[in-house]
Amino acid sequence: MTATVLCERITTEIAVVTLNRPDKLNALNAELLGELDATFATLSADANVSCVILTGAGEKAFAAGADIAAMSAMSTEQARAFSETGHRVCLRIERAPFPVIGAINGFALGGGCEIALACDFLYASDKAKLGQPEVNLGVMPGFGGTQRLARRVGIGRARELCYTADTVAADEALRIGLVNAVVPHADLMTKARETATKIASKGRLAVAQCKRVLYAGADVPLDVANALETQSFAMLFGTKDQAEGMKAFLEKRKAAFTGV
Ligand code: COA
Repeated sequence: MTATVLCERITTEIAVVTLNRPDKLNALNAELLGELDATFATLSADANVSCVILTGAGEKAFAAGADIAAMSAMSTEQARAFSETGHRVCLRIERAPFPVIGAINGFALGGGCEIALACDFLYASDKAKLGQPEVNLGVMPGFGGTQRLARRVGIGRARELCYTADTVAADEALRIGLVNAVVPHADLMTKARETATKIASKGRLAVAQCKRVLYAGADVPLDVANALETQSFAMLFGTKDQAEGMKAFLEKRKAAFTGV
């Protein structure tokens, strides 16, 4: 049987993870969510990984949502378990010790938008369309969309998108801060790879601590968040990368980071 998630290591430091049910616009069923969870668990345990790109197979979709066929007959209890699975996968992506760039190659709707929102930031093809259209189906976001969308684009826009089921095209997604850049469809992976390569050239532990504190600090009072930053900042001074990074600057050469 074909894997519903593909993982290609394009360099020692960079992996491309692809949602792979293109005939169903990469709709998220239990099998795909399980494979996505396992893929990110494996990558997270690999100290060589510095950046991951997450995208969708085919020309049309990143993921057009949770699998409606699979959800249609769910009981309340099954829906609870499905939602909990989705939350677990999104947290796995969000808490990975490396940045995850979402390369949004088409529709990112419902659960697809929620998986995208678990990425650190997004680049969109000019064909992309994003949104939370669940109320069209008599349900609501269940993989963290109400919360992460609000944190990304602000509460007012999140409310409007969730209540109306409106989808936004790439240029509007850029305007409201849902994606960081829009590029011609054919250039999407090149753009994502360029940024991943740039990130992978930096001190891996330093980038990981930036990510940790950006997330951990977002939901606590500023003084607590600042204390987290101080803790991580100080910790990095016990690493070889700090010694190398500063020595290289003073010696006017490029740093050779080793991630330790
Ligand atoms: N769940 C299950 N199957 C899905 C799906 C989903 N969320 N989204 C698309 N598919 C399937 C379609 O059923 C179709 O399968 P089939 O060929 O076996 O009939 C296939 O993917 C292609 O989709 P299709 O609807 O024919 O493509 P389109 O280009 O005409 O329309 C969309 C694209 C995205 C507008 C449309 O597929 C859609 O509205 N999908 C649902 C979006 C949604 O509500 N997501 C939130 C779910 S909570």
